[in-house]
Amino acid sequence: MNVKEAILSRRSIGKVKQDAVPEELVQQVLEAAVWAPNHGQTEPWRFWVMTGEGRKLLGRGYAEVAIAEAGDISPDEIAELRAAQEKKALRAPVVIAVAVTPTALPGVPEIEEYAAAHAAVHNMSLMAHALGLGTIWRTGAPTYHPKMKEVFGLQGAEELVGFVYIGYPEREAPEGKRTPHQQKTVWVRE
Ligand SMILES: Cc1cc2nc3c(=O)[nH]c(=O)nc-3n(C[C@H](O)[C@H](O)[C@H](O)COP(=O)(O)O)c2cc1C
Repeated sequence: MNVKEAILSRRSIGKVKQDAVPEELVQQVLEAAVWAPNHGQTEPWRFWVMTGEGRKLLGRGYAEVAIAEAGDISPDEIAELRAAQEKKALRAPVVIAVAVTPTALPGVPEIEEYAAAHAAVHNMSLMAHALGLGTIWRTGAPTYHPKMKEVFGLQGAEELVGFVYIGYPEREAPEGKRTPHQQKTVWVRE
């Protein structure tokens, strides 16, 4: 698959099979991530590859956030909430958490460290797609919650930038939809 084809045909795939993904393919996805451009060669990223029971790490994160936000609820309600939240981490056989690790390099503002980490995530999606895998980049408020950061042991300015759910697509990708670039672009020629 060439780059044009990969970019134009990649779609977010929310429903994937639970079939195991060979580790060799996950390694290729991670390799694509670290080849993302990054200002000053800061390489501002960290990854957690969660498979099998390892996905409980993310499940715990979702659960801790939900419980912290639920306020005053009974032990039964806590148990119910925890079980429901933990299930969210099982939506794909492989989930990769990606964090930005901003450095304090002069000339590299934090916004650019985020840009690099986001580019890494998209590289992962494109490589996975080229390998016949489906991905979805998931975030939501829990991603940035202090409890989630605690569960992943983030330090200082580190933040999660998303969870990449990976697996073999359950069905054909939905039709994509975009506003034509002409409507978003001004050409300045003189
Ligand atoms: C930063 C970011 C966060 C996203 N978070 C979610 C999410 O939490 N849940 C979700 O279903 N999709 C999420 N997406 C995927 C978008 O919904 C998806 O890219 C968009 O609908 C366009 O569809 P496509 O990727 O198939 O072209 C996210 C995408 C980005 C870039």
